[in-house]
Amino acid sequence: MRTAIPPQDAERPDRDRRAPSDYPLTDLLARRWSPRAFAETPVEPEKLASVLEAARWAPSSSNLQPWRFLVTRRKTDAFDALRACLARGNQSWTERVPVLILTLADTLLPAKGDKPAAEHAYALHDVGLAVANLTVQATALGLFVHQMAGFRPDEARAAFGIPETFRPVTVLALGYLGDPAALPAELQERERAPRRRKPLRELVFEGAWGEAAGFLEP
Ligand SMILES: Cc1cc2nc3c(=O)[nH]c(=O)nc-3n(C[C@H](O)[C@H](O)[C@H](O)COP(=O)(O)O)c2cc1C
Repeated sequence: MRTAIPPQDAERPDRDRRAPSDYPLTDLLARRWSPRAFAETPVEPEKLASVLEAARWAPSSSNLQPWRFLVTRRKTDAFDALRACLARGNQSWTERVPVLILTLADTLLPAKGDKPAAEHAYALHDVGLAVANLTVQATALGLFVHQMAGFRPDEARAAFGIPETFRPVTVLALGYLGDPAALPAELQERERAPRRRKPLRELVFEGAWGEAAGFLEP
């Protein structure tokens, strides 16, 4: 980042949903969460470019960079077309979102030497890494991301003329925090519900499957 930009969420302490982590987290990870109430405020073009630049610099298997991003901005036909591909639940809160991004994976591993072209087994993994980078950069710029699997990939494929070997993976909502009062009632509750994660001891083993990791507190 060339300039220090104050995080927008600092202006909305009512909406601070910092992760109540058991071990220290770097601030950018602690502050990230997935809102549904977004402000209509457009995302500045330089910030939009910056979050996608962060995605570009993610690591990837054999540096193949299988990620692609189809960006749509509110009040355009493309935005309406992408929003129309969302599941009904996701349509209910995305009306004010300023940017929707379709993420895609190049699923084809190119032929190399005598090896024929094949399916790229790590393409989805790498798209996830790129989205993680994008999300961290967004947090640094005071922006928030809400990832969605709830959409119809085939409709998106048809609407945007996506070539067959590219797989639509997720849709990302990107923007600034908005007012939860604008959400349907049940979503307002979810917007404020406590954040939960499985305990680390359930997820991390040491040395053998199922063995508690010795470096974690009991
Ligand atoms: C791949 C993926 C798909 C998701 N799909 C949806 C979705 O369709 N709709 C939705 O409201 N949230 C969706 N989410 C958001 C998750 O529900 C959310 O990340 C999770 O509950 C943890 O909350 P947090 O991101 O605020 O920490 C998705 C997240 C990911 C990573």
